[in-house]
Amino acid sequence: MRVLGIETSCDETGVAIIDTRRGLLAHALYSQVRLHAEFGGVVPELASRDHVRKLLPLVKRVLADAGTEPGELDGVAYTAGPGLIGALLVGACVGRSLAWAWGVPAVGVHHMEGHLLAPMLESPAPEFPFIALLVSGGHSMLVEVAGLGRYRVLGETLDDAAGEAFDKTAKVLGLGYPGGPALARLAEQGRPGRLRLPRPMLNRPGLDFSFSGLKTAVITGIRDLELDEQAKADVAWEFQEAIVDTLIGKSLRAVEETGIRRLVVAGGVGANRRLRSQLAAAAQAAGAEVFYPRLEFCTDNGAMIAYAGMLRLAAGERAASSIEARARWDLETLRPPVRGSAAPTGPAPAN
Ligand code: KG4
Ligand code: ZN
Repeated sequence: MRVLGIETSCDETGVAIIDTRRGLLAHALYSQVRLHAEFGGVVPELASRDHVRKLLPLVKRVLADAGTEPGELDGVAYTAGPGLIGALLVGACVGRSLAWAWGVPAVGVHHMEGHLLAPMLESPAPEFPFIALLVSGGHSMLVEVAGLGRYRVLGETLDDAAGEAFDKTAKVLGLGYPGGPALARLAEQGRPGRLRLPRPMLNRPGLDFSFSGLKTAVITGIRDLELDEQAKADVAWEFQEAIVDTLIGKSLRAVEETGIRRLVVAGGVGANRRLRSQLAAAAQAAGAEVFYPRLEFCTDNGAMIAYAGMLRLAAGERAASSIEARARWDLETLRPPVRGSAAPTGPAPAN
């Protein structure tokens, strides 16, 4: 089975073609980062319009790169949510229409299901069950993954997502957009000891996170500091350490509590090098194994949507012929694929 995957839930246009036997054949990504930079964040309407401009040329390029004719495709997978509704609608309309024109089935994929299965594109791939630490700009959660469509949320953020905290703190430090990668780069020059920051929720039971207080602690902490370049780097270092310690502490607690010793890290913050190196060491000490997607598949991409969609289509799932797009969509309402019908996803939430 050969499947085209389309991702347009936020500010990246991602397209990929995957084959059940030969794996990933081609993928391409167009990032709108420069378009939104002057506004310091994603402007939804501009995002939708840019997806309209970029999506079809990207589909053509990926078909050519994969040496694939449309007639050789067996299905189309597109991100159906959660995300920016206008941006989602572009991918959903194009994906559904192409599938209809080519006479193949389409499936609407949950964006976070794409993220949490992304490490399975690598070798060795993690086996089910595993614990997934999903840390992106919009979500921070720990999920027990028993199989495709069998997800139990063990904990999530009570306020800001980890990526959002990186982005907001980067803004406080006057760094460019997007803030997460810029802050992480600056932290590499940082030295410890400039500021003491809390490890939110780590001393409380449970697996929930809370990151908004960290940003406030940074704002308060830098009030009396002369913020030269070195001081900024030192603050970036302390902030990154606080987030990394918290994510590692809670992830290992999830491993302990469930007895599942495979841990998967996914989502944009999973690209953070300090998190990757520290977690590798901590997990090894705890007798757990950690799996990551390659760096470019941590952030939004078409490959993860093609992969998740391929698994569902290969299991016989067939979506209705309507165009599916939901701004909000609870991961726990997903179900394993059901042959011949759309996956039951619970009552459709209001957008
Ligand atoms: O998964 P993603 O591409 O989009 C969402 O679905 O949100 O994640 C983007 C988030 C942004 O908040 C970005 O600042 C953060 O991931 N991010 C990072 C790094 N690379 C991306 N945060 C920390 N360190 C990084 N290296
Ligand atoms: Zn994402």
